[in-house]
Amino acid sequence: MKYRFGHPFPTDAVIRKVALSSGAPAHFSLSREGELVTLSYPLAEEDAVYGLGEQMRGINKRGWHYESWNLDDPIHHEGRTSLYGAHNFFLVWGKECFGAFLDCAGRVEYDVGFTDRNLFTVKAKDFDLYLFEGDSPSAIVREFRALIGRSYIPPKWAFGFAQSRWGYKNEADIREVYEEYRKAGLPLDMLFLDIDYMERFKDFTVDKTRFPDLKAFAAEMKQKNIHLVPIIDAAVKVEEGYPVYDEGIQKGYFCKDASGSPFVVGVWPGNSVLPDMLNPAARKWFGSRYRVLLDMGIEGFWNDMNEPVLFYSQERLQDALRIASETKEITCLADYERVSHTFFGLQNNDGDYRAFYHETENGRVVHEAVHNLYGYNMTRAAAEYFAEYAPGKRFLLFSRSSCVGMHRYGGIWTGDNSAWWSHLLLNLQQLPGLNMCGFLFAGADLGGFGGSTTEELLLRWLALGVFVPLMRNHSNLGSRPQECYRFTRTDVFRNLLGIRYSLLPYLYSEFVRCAFENDMLFRPLAFAYPDDVRARTVEDQLLVGGSLMIAPVYTQNAKGRYVYLPERMKLIRMKAGDRFTEQTLEKGEYYIPVSTEEVVFFLRCGKVLPLARPALNTASLDDKNLTWVKFIERPTAFTLVRDGGTSQIRKEDFETVLVEP
Ligand code: GLC
Repeated sequence: MKYRFGHPFPTDAVIRKVALSSGAPAHFSLSREGELVTLSYPLAEEDAVYGLGEQMRGINKRGWHYESWNLDDPIHHEGRTSLYGAHNFFLVWGKECFGAFLDCAGRVEYDVGFTDRNLFTVKAKDFDLYLFEGDSPSAIVREFRALIGRSYIPPKWAFGFAQSRWGYKNEADIREVYEEYRKAGLPLDMLFLDIDYMERFKDFTVDKTRFPDLKAFAAEMKQKNIHLVPIIDAAVKVEEGYPVYDEGIQKGYFCKDASGSPFVVGVWPGNSVLPDMLNPAARKWFGSRYRVLLDMGIEGFWNDMNEPVLFYSQERLQDALRIASETKEITCLADYERVSHTFFGLQNNDGDYRAFYHETENGRVVHEAVHNLYGYNMTRAAAEYFAEYAPGKRFLLFSRSSCVGMHRYGGIWTGDNSAWWSHLLLNLQQLPGLNMCGFLFAGADLGGFGGSTTEELLLRWLALGVFVPLMRNHSNLGSRPQECYRFTRTDVFRNLLGIRYSLLPYLYSEFVRCAFENDMLFRPLAFAYPDDVRARTVEDQLLVGGSLMIAPVYTQNAKGRYVYLPERMKLIRMKAGDRFTEQTLEKGEYYIPVSTEEVVFFLRCGKVLPLARPALNTASLDDKNLTWVKFIERPTAFTLVRDGGTSQIRKEDFETVLVEP
């Protein structure tokens, strides 16, 4: 059922035509204050609320308030109400079971039992509301996902291990990281190029003093089965003579202020302008700029700073400078506050998001009304161009900012997390919400982006990361170096990364199946064991695909953890290679010892798991000779996907293998 409120800006999130329903939507009561609509739902004691994509604070979202307002704020503490994505799908499950999607380009506010534990409200203006009914959460998610279209599938090599860091300055640095991985026998598929590869942070340029011949370097690395993945930022440096700037200005492709002048903001390159990603011609143009790097043999990108981030707007900065210069002396706190607030309030200022415009197919629109579509359309620009550049080829593409709809064009990473134990758990808790909203290819910065990681934290995080599609170790400039060879127990890192490659036939096959069947790769236990009251509250375990349950350790100095088994399962312990030990456990709660040297998980009853031999990269992974871990009494089918990994997958690439007990 679809209902319209106000005049929604078309987001292209939905791929099917749905006729508008008449009357009032079921489940909610409605109230209006001007253009603002509030949907209210009384929560029963047993109700849980799932979804909202990458939002923080638990798998069950009840008990906090959230906002869909794409925002770059690198401190992801528990008080946050929004991160980088706008993922407006949720599911209420308890007394009733239904799903809702707000197809909305602007701000949406959710109060999920925050003000009143028994009341759930959603506030927005100009949106389409889709309601989904079904007899289970999984059925509802499938319905929603069918409406928004198939999730992005990256090339197979993107499921390998990636090393990244803000601070690799030049070819020599990248070579060194590669060499260290190689010498230590640590598996690796990708090395990331952060902003320093560019000439003064100018998109689609390469600093020749740092990377004299990126094309030759990329080719050489590819020979070694390593893909180089450069970053692209949203904003374009203001600099006459820089072709991307000159061309964009000449064609009128940058966002403009009310007077029609390009709106100037500060990002990494200093004064910059924002490509109008919502103007189809500008989007096409921006996408085609990736060609410079594609022609150098680059096959993967990460799109960043595309909320878009505004460190300042030139206009507001000038105001702040004026206020400061007019202040001859500070004699009281009020003076100090007046000056300091003008500076503290510069970044991502709401007023600035109201001060520039997009030229869209539907006319001129103020940015604020379509804010959450910006990163989505940057990524769409790239993906649409890749499809033109090399039809049928799969590229790696993921973004920081996103909105439902972008899931068809690329994946996401969850931005600037920290080297905190709580963020390891957060990583796990974000995955089901993301999957519900179509983002299957996702991951967090393993080890933590900000702050100082430790060997123990990184090892524990990798023991979760081996199951997560995007497995990337990335960290901040100036933080403690955290490449896997930086610590004492290199052999343990080698084993853990090796286990990732052993698990790849399973993960990749299940990922592709989930994309085709609109299924979730990561499910809360509640979804699979709906009648189990205990399972319905588990916040630190997940099902991964059809066969596995994971229960990672996420506390410092732990020797193990309590795990709840909602049914009979086999505990599988892997330490090195594709070898494992198994132990059958009945339904119940157990304290499971888990050392930092192993990956422990559970095989569900009636299921199988294919394992490959560990490999140094995806290119040398042997997915023909598999070992099967089994918990079956009769022949059991498993769908393997063993395509070439770089062109579009077809149904014919699915192979059903019958595994004997
Ligand atoms: C942003 C990104 C981070 C990147 C940095 C420099 O903070 O989230 O991943 O390393 O910018 O480009």
